[in-house]
Amino acid sequence: MTEQSLLQDANTTLGLDMPTSQLLDHANEYSLHQGQDRFQEARPGDFWSIECVDVYKTFGSRPILNGLNLGIPEGMISIVLGPSGTGKSVLIKHLIGLLFPDAGDILVHGDSVPRLTTSQLLEMRRKFGILFQDGALFGSMNIFDNVAFPLRQNTDLSEAQISDVVNQRLHEVGMGHANELMPNELSGGMRKRAGFARALVTEPEIVVFDEPDSGLDPVRTALLCELIKQMHAQHGGTYIVITHDIASLHQIGQYISVLWKGRIVQAGSRQDMFSSDNPFVRQFLNRRLEGPLGMD
Ligand SMILES: Nc1ncnc2c1ncn2[C@@H]1O[C@H](COP(=O)(O)OP(=O)(O)OP(=O)(O)O)[C@@H](O)[C@H]1O
Ligand SMILES: [Mg+2]
Repeated sequence: MTEQSLLQDANTTLGLDMPTSQLLDHANEYSLHQGQDRFQEARPGDFWSIECVDVYKTFGSRPILNGLNLGIPEGMISIVLGPSGTGKSVLIKHLIGLLFPDAGDILVHGDSVPRLTTSQLLEMRRKFGILFQDGALFGSMNIFDNVAFPLRQNTDLSEAQISDVVNQRLHEVGMGHANELMPNELSGGMRKRAGFARALVTEPEIVVFDEPDSGLDPVRTALLCELIKQMHAQHGGTYIVITHDIASLHQIGQYISVLWKGRIVQAGSRQDMFSSDNPFVRQFLNRRLEGPLGMD
């Protein structure tokens, strides 16, 4: 049986009305995507803090997430790696219900995010601490007030208690001296550290970092990664780091998922990924010019 007739057969079995040529294109486009081996084995809530199940998201006519299956293991530092413009930030927005999928499901600790009511969604978001790409500090507030903000918004703590927590977090990220400074008085690295203190201040169960390395030199990036590792060891929780910095991957990645064309190419431990024989994973992790990824 030829590939074409096999696909036609599958098409008929599935009751799909798709021309065989399109099926072939689809098969070729995803021929390197191995997905996530262990994903099928685990039960919901068993091992994964977050699961994306067959998630589709299209903007206009451009599919961004295209049948994404992704599991983020509980209690580890996970890295989601992928080329620019591949949908990493779009993915984060789905996790916290800032965007909703066209099809498929996103589970956070087993709860379906698209099915939550508005009040449940607001409650669910409290599980998350997020460090946005630029630190996203409020320009009109000093660093102390920036870090205190989530506590003042979401808790009944007294100002004295807030002050204790904020000072401790700022101290932990090496910003104990910066209480009174305004965000525009800080360097990029300091803004990231202050943003990190703010992301951690409510002791979230899940912490997300969108490209912590962007705008930082390699030494500052390495220092920030060291801080991420330290804080994870100290506070625990599930960390998700979005990056394309391979050095960060070596330094802190415990579980790595490679995203391309809206689906996972491969996911696994750092050792699994660095010994992968998948041509895309090898090209990306070794920064090779030759391979399936071009400038298109
Ligand atoms: N709200 C939106 N409406 C329309 N298109 C969008 C929207 N948000 C993102 N996109 C498009 O989706 C694609 C993926 O964007 P995204 O920001 O997730 O990429 P990324 O992987 O985070 O890239 P980078 O590594 O450069 O940050 C881009 O082509 C972007 O233009
Ligand atoms: Mg992004």
